[in-house]
Amino acid sequence: MIRRVYGTRQSLRGMRRVPPYLRHVLATDAQGFWVAESNTKVIGFVCSIVRGSIWFLCDFWIVPEFQNRGIGRQLLKRSLQSDRPYRITSTYSSLYPPAMRSYIMLGMTPQFPIYTLVCRSKDLKPTWAAEREIKICELDPTGSQGGIREAVHEMSSIDKVARGSGRNEDHELFIKRSGNRCWLAKKSDRTIGYFYISPKGQVGPLAVKDTRAMLPVLHQAIESAARLHPGLTIQIPSPNVESIRELIRAGFRIDSHAIFMSSREFGKMENYIISGPALF
Ligand SMILES: CC(C)(COP(=O)(O)OP(=O)(O)OC[C@H]1O[C@@H](n2cnc3c(N)ncnc32)[C@H](O)[C@@H]1OP(=O)(O)O)[C@@H](O)C(=O)NCCC(=O)NCCS
Repeated sequence: MIRRVYGTRQSLRGMRRVPPYLRHVLATDAQGFWVAESNTKVIGFVCSIVRGSIWFLCDFWIVPEFQNRGIGRQLLKRSLQSDRPYRITSTYSSLYPPAMRSYIMLGMTPQFPIYTLVCRSKDLKPTWAAEREIKICELDPTGSQGGIREAVHEMSSIDKVARGSGRNEDHELFIKRSGNRCWLAKKSDRTIGYFYISPKGQVGPLAVKDTRAMLPVLHQAIESAARLHPGLTIQIPSPNVESIRELIRAGFRIDSHAIFMSSREFGKMENYIISGPALF
């Protein structure tokens, strides 16, 4: 049986642990969330979000003993039906052949790898000079609602350039997520970029409006993260190769990679570092 999940505790019955990002997907776009059940036990699920004109597949799993029986295809078909109009389909794909096949058959094309880079903070050897022009200021998540709304609005307008769509609702999650910290990058009092650092030392999402600001903002993000955490992780789309090169020179290692797939190109990936596989 395949059923749509809505944002209630009851509707997640059968899923043992529900990570916060899935609750967020349910709360912000329940239409793309479907589960497959066998004898009332969840044996697979799919969830997607629409942000602006972009449909993004967040997660897609079938338990191994039920794979290759067409269940995934049925889930995907339902998840694509949304009242929110979108023009582009996309996902962060694993390298697992049946997964890639599913996306290719939906009309998506492999666009570029996304590299996961890691570094122990004590091994970091920055090769860059101290940044003077760009100032960073940390956002206070307990600050005034008006201040947070304004920052979210500014970040979303940068996202429209860098990742092809705004995402106010995701910033609200990132800002409030326990232990997450968020900085705005400013030049002459104008917000030109932003970055987050997670409680586990992950840097991202990070975005800038102008590609020339990418490396200066990245430097500040890495330096801030290294002061806070013993180990750093960052996931970078390969079109942002200047950042990859810069970090490798500074001591980062390539840990793994995945493939970004979409029905067409969008955004300006040189200006973007992703939040992770689930919300991109
Ligand atoms: C990806 C996944 C959700 C697909 O679910 P599923 O129910 O097995 O998918 P389906 O049965 O609908 O489709 C799988 C298709 O891949 C095909 N396939 C299997 N191996 C393949 C290969 N090496 N190359 C190409 N196609 C392959 C199958 O034949 C099947 O196609 P068919 O129905 O036309 O015969 C499931 O395999 C899974 O949970 N994988 C592990 C988690 C994962 O990688 N998730 C994706 C994250 S991006």
